[in-house]
Amino acid sequence: MAHQPSGFSRLRWKRSHLDCFLSSVLFLLLADYVDNAANRYYGVFTVYGTGDTILQTFHAHLGPLDGNRRWHVECLDGEAMVGIGDLVDDFQKMAQVWCKFMFPNKPPTNGLYPYYPNCFVRNYTTQYHCYMAKDHDVSINTFITGIYDDDFQFWTFRLGQDNSQPYKCCKTPLGYYIDYFSCYYMPTKDIYGEYYDHTSMFLVFCATDHVMTGLGKKINAWGRDYHVDWIQCCRVGVGIPPRIYRPPQHTYTYDSYANHSYPNKPSGQYAAQYQGRNLGAQMMPRGFLGSERKDHHHNQLSAVS
Ligand SMILES: *[C@@H]1O[C@H](CO)[C@@H](O)[C@H](O)[C@H]1NC(C)=O
Ligand SMILES: *[C@@H]1O[C@H](CO)[C@@H](O)[C@H](O)[C@H]1NC(C)=O
Repeated sequence: MAHQPSGFSRLRWKRSHLDCFLSSVLFLLLADYVDNAANRYYGVFTVYGTGDTILQTFHAHLGPLDGNRRWHVECLDGEAMVGIGDLVDDFQKMAQVWCKFMFPNKPPTNGLYPYYPNCFVRNYTTQYHCYMAKDHDVSINTFITGIYDDDFQFWTFRLGQDNSQPYKCCKTPLGYYIDYFSCYYMPTKDIYGEYYDHTSMFLVFCATDHVMTGLGKKINAWGRDYHVDWIQCCRVGVGIPPRIYRPPQHTYTYDSYANHSYPNKPSGQYAAQYQGRNLGAQMMPRGFLGSERKDHHHNQLSAVS
């Protein structure tokens, strides 16, 4: 009987030791988690001296969903979105965004928001371009500055859950315009359906002087889930826009970057998913002569659903 208490206390001593050890481990894990989370949060924007800003979208979700309010995944003053990255996730995720300083003649806001006064919201599940023929005055000469997602991983692939995919389009500052003649598409995958994945490099981005003016998300014919399918890039022009716009006629179809012998050509049922008409003459009002007269930079459009 006498040895029992000491046995118990030995056990208690061991247990408290163990508790101490476990709580230390827990503390370290938690500290690491919190530290990591904080680092991730505050390390979201990496600004380079070259006029480039890379955003990590992880932990940079939410913010007010409004055309004229700041989103967490949004380019800085004078910048436009020029590229997207997914790490190795087949563009089922938006892991990174590349913003570039494009408008040196724009007076800086000195950090005050809004950086661009005329912005509106689109939804890249179904609305692939900033430009909308039916809201011509508002949407002509607009480019992408921000994306939004309600989960911190920025998953885009789940049907239903990821249907809401808002992005923000803004008017070019005075003195700049979008040269619609120059627009082209950059697909997120090669002709064999292999996605342009990379852990340390952007592979889906616009050429020099071009900015993102469209973003398409499609249901993949084989996986039957969403992937970001392409970005549209258009050149930023400076000065007076050309008097006569000749919007490009090219159409983005599967065939435009895969020929008919493409081994995994989608079946008729899915082929339609891969069609997205560019800002071509069909979308422009008849006899449209450029935007310099009608575009007063005053119009605003509230969030478009
Ligand atoms: C289409 O792809 C096949 C197979 O790779 C190739 O032999 C053919 O030349 C291509 N045709 C065109 C028009 O590019
Ligand atoms: C975006 O479009 C999808 C598909 O039409 C829709 O389900 C979703 O509610 C839209 N989200 C927003 C915010 O407009």
